[in-house]
Amino acid sequence: MSETIDLVKEINRLKKEKNAVILAHYYQVPEIQDIADYVGDSLGLSQKAAETDADIIVFAGVHFMAETAKILNPKKTVVLPDLNAGCSLADSCPPESFEAFTKAHPDHVVITYVNCSAEIKALSDIVCTSSNALKIVQSIPAETPIIFAPDKNLGRYIIRETGRDMLLWDGSCVVHEAFSIDKLIELHKKHPDYKIIAHPESETHILDTAAYIGSTSGMINFVKEHPNEKFIVATEAGILHKMQEEIPTADLIPAPAVEDNTCACSECHFMKMNTMQKLYDCLLNESPQIHVPENIIDRALLPIERMLELSK
Ligand code: 13P
Ligand code: SF4
Repeated sequence: MSETIDLVKEINRLKKEKNAVILAHYYQVPEIQDIADYVGDSLGLSQKAAETDADIIVFAGVHFMAETAKILNPKKTVVLPDLNAGCSLADSCPPESFEAFTKAHPDHVVITYVNCSAEIKALSDIVCTSSNALKIVQSIPAETPIIFAPDKNLGRYIIRETGRDMLLWDGSCVVHEAFSIDKLIELHKKHPDYKIIAHPESETHILDTAAYIGSTSGMINFVKEHPNEKFIVATEAGILHKMQEEIPTADLIPAPAVEDNTCACSECHFMKMNTMQKLYDCLLNESPQIHVPENIIDRALLPIERMLELSK
C-alpha cells in the first residue's frame, strides 16, 4: 500500500492531525528538506526545538540532534525516521573514556561540540555548535583551561582563531575528513574563478584553501552576500539543495572527496538513512522514539541552555 500513497500529502495530513513539526538538517535528501517546517544548521534546529509548541517533533537529522531536541522537550514525543542515523563524530567519544579524561583535568572547563551523545553533554559545562563555537570559547575567562571535544578539526580551527590553548579530544567527522586536497587543488586550478568555502569540521589543509569558513548556515549566508559568484563547497553535498534554491544565481560545485572514502563522495550516509517513506512511517506510528534517561536529561540540559542563552 505504501508504494501507492502520496507521501507528501499524507505526511502533511498527519502533521496537521497530530500537531507535529518537522525539523530537518541541510544534509537531508531534497524531498525531506522540501516538506520540513524548518531547515537549518545544528544551532537553528536546537533553537526551533526549544521554542516549538508542537506535540510531536519529527527530527529529520541524526541521533544526537534528536536527542538534543528531547533533552529540551522531555515531555514531548521526539521521533527520528531511522534510529540508526548516527554520527562518526559522536561515536568517536565514548562516555567512559571521556569521563576519565575530564577527571584527569578537573580544573578544565569542558566545552563540547553538539555532535556528541547525551551522556557526553551531561559531562559538559557548555555545549557549542559550529555557528557559535568561537563565541562560546571566548566567553570562558582567559585564564581558565579548556577541554574541547569531540572534534579535533573544529578544535584546531578555534585554537587558531582565538589563540586559546585547549586540550582536544581526538574525534572527527568521516565526511569532512574525506575531502581530497589534491583533487580540490586540481579542481581549483581548472576553475580559478571559484572561491572555496569550507565547514570547520574539515582538516586544516582544506581550511587553508578557503575564502570563508563557517557552519552550514554561515556558508549559505556567505553565498547570499555574493549571489553572482562561483563557489566550491566543502561540506556535505546535501547543502547544495537549499543553497542553490536560496541563491539561484550562484554557481556551485561540491568539493571532491577521496575515491576510497566510505561515504560515497561527500555524502553523510547517516544523514541519508532518512527517507520520505521512513519519515511518513515514523509520523504515522510515532516510532522510533528518542528516549533519554531522566538523570542524563537533568545534567545535559544546563550546558545546552547555557549555549542557547549565549546565542541569543
Ligand atoms: P552545522 O549544520 O551546525 O554546521 O553542522 C554540520 C554537521 O556536521 C552536522 O552534523
Ligand atoms: Fe556526523 Fe559528519 Fe555526518 Fe555531520 S556529516 S552527522 S558530523 S558524520
